[in-house]
Amino acid sequence: MNIQKTHNEWSSRLAFILAATGSAVGLGNIWKFPYITGENGGGAFVLVYLLCVLLIGIPIMIAETMMGRHTRQNPIDALKTLTEESGADHNWHYLGWLGVVAGFLILSYYSVIAGWASAYVLKAFVGSFSGEDAAGIKQIFGDFVASPIQLIFWHSLFMFATMWIVNRGVNNGLEKAVRLLMPSLFVLLILLVGYAMTTGSYNEGLRFLFTPDFSKLTADAVLTAMGHAFFTLSLGMGAIMVYGAYLPNNISIAKTSMLVAGADTVVALLAGIAIFPIVFANNLQASSGPGLIFETLPLAFGNMTGGWLFGILFFVMLVVAALTSSISLIEPAVAWLVENRNITRQQACVWAGGIAWALGLGTVFSFNVWSDVKLFDRTIFQLLDYLTANLMLPIGGFCIAVFTGWIMHQQHSAQELAMPSQGYKVWRVLVKYVAPSAVFLVFLHVVGVL
Ligand code: PHE
Repeated sequence: MNIQKTHNEWSSRLAFILAATGSAVGLGNIWKFPYITGENGGGAFVLVYLLCVLLIGIPIMIAETMMGRHTRQNPIDALKTLTEESGADHNWHYLGWLGVVAGFLILSYYSVIAGWASAYVLKAFVGSFSGEDAAGIKQIFGDFVASPIQLIFWHSLFMFATMWIVNRGVNNGLEKAVRLLMPSLFVLLILLVGYAMTTGSYNEGLRFLFTPDFSKLTADAVLTAMGHAFFTLSLGMGAIMVYGAYLPNNISIAKTSMLVAGADTVVALLAGIAIFPIVFANNLQASSGPGLIFETLPLAFGNMTGGWLFGILFFVMLVVAALTSSISLIEPAVAWLVENRNITRQQACVWAGGIAWALGLGTVFSFNVWSDVKLFDRTIFQLLDYLTANLMLPIGGFCIAVFTGWIMHQQHSAQELAMPSQGYKVWRVLVKYVAPSAVFLVFLHVVGVL
């Protein structure tokens, strides 16, 4: 079925850029990037991440958007159409399924963490951070995540909001939300960087982020950096493909992809630059894990002029940024359900959101009652994160690169991308050779073959 019958197109190039940026910029940039950078020793990790964005992320983003627009279908059907069209093995359509499953798994924990951010809006509002020192702020976070009931409440609220928005259709209201969100988020991050400059540890923070110390770079850190490039750009699971399916024909996919990736990277780096000086100035642990931003930024809000208001605004924006990402996490599943199962969009949202919500309980309990339950040395949350960001997304991305580089007819990709021939050649080399071999080498490195 042609997707345009069921969904609208984006109204303009800007609308697509906003939606794709909305999907890309989220918890990955502000919550995850700083804490995994802290856990993996800083500079060298950041460098690998940036290289991955440039050499693997951007070419695959172009490929994924192109596959979506070429077929104008949800990822599962898109792959069916593409395999038929290229006379390829029909097993390729499992790639679409891999993406839909990855989306569910990610959404399940994404919603829990976005729930934390939502709870922090309230905490900021009632003035919980005001005048607190590092120990006090840490305590607030510790008490909060120790309570399954509170986490479930906020997780449910966030999931409900996601379902509600997706039910209204991804391009209704989303454009406006992101148009407002991006500039405001940017301004607030700059403001936080300004605060970071006053902490006395600004240079130390910058050094940590940008001076590579390769002795700290383990094989697993390289995999995490690469996986994060996929995660933060929303690649490898069909989110960008499904947005590409709504993209009008006359728009340059390559240029928009580079813009989106650029904006995403800037937001992540700003978050890092804001957070690490606060970490060092207060003798906090850079490697303290998923709580990092919740243990540092409230300190800034609790102690700067206007911090009450900025704290509220910041967490509100973090929640909105998470929402514009979470809707893209279930959109592939919802689009597939609506187009294949003959159910309404509303029913599809309830099913998809309900399953992800239930799965999310595993993450909720990872931080309290099940914190000792470990599989492969990881809590459920850590396992889900590893499975999706470090394995499923890179595998999905690898397959997308191989498919567009080796299997899809070249004239189709050339026509769809309509790039200057030089640019097209560069993209093809990246997607055909560089990206797949890079992913493959990182995997070999992790299993110890290299
Ligand atoms: N890119 C989003 C973020 O950084 C997360 C995401 C991953 C969204 C995969 C869609 C698909 O927060």
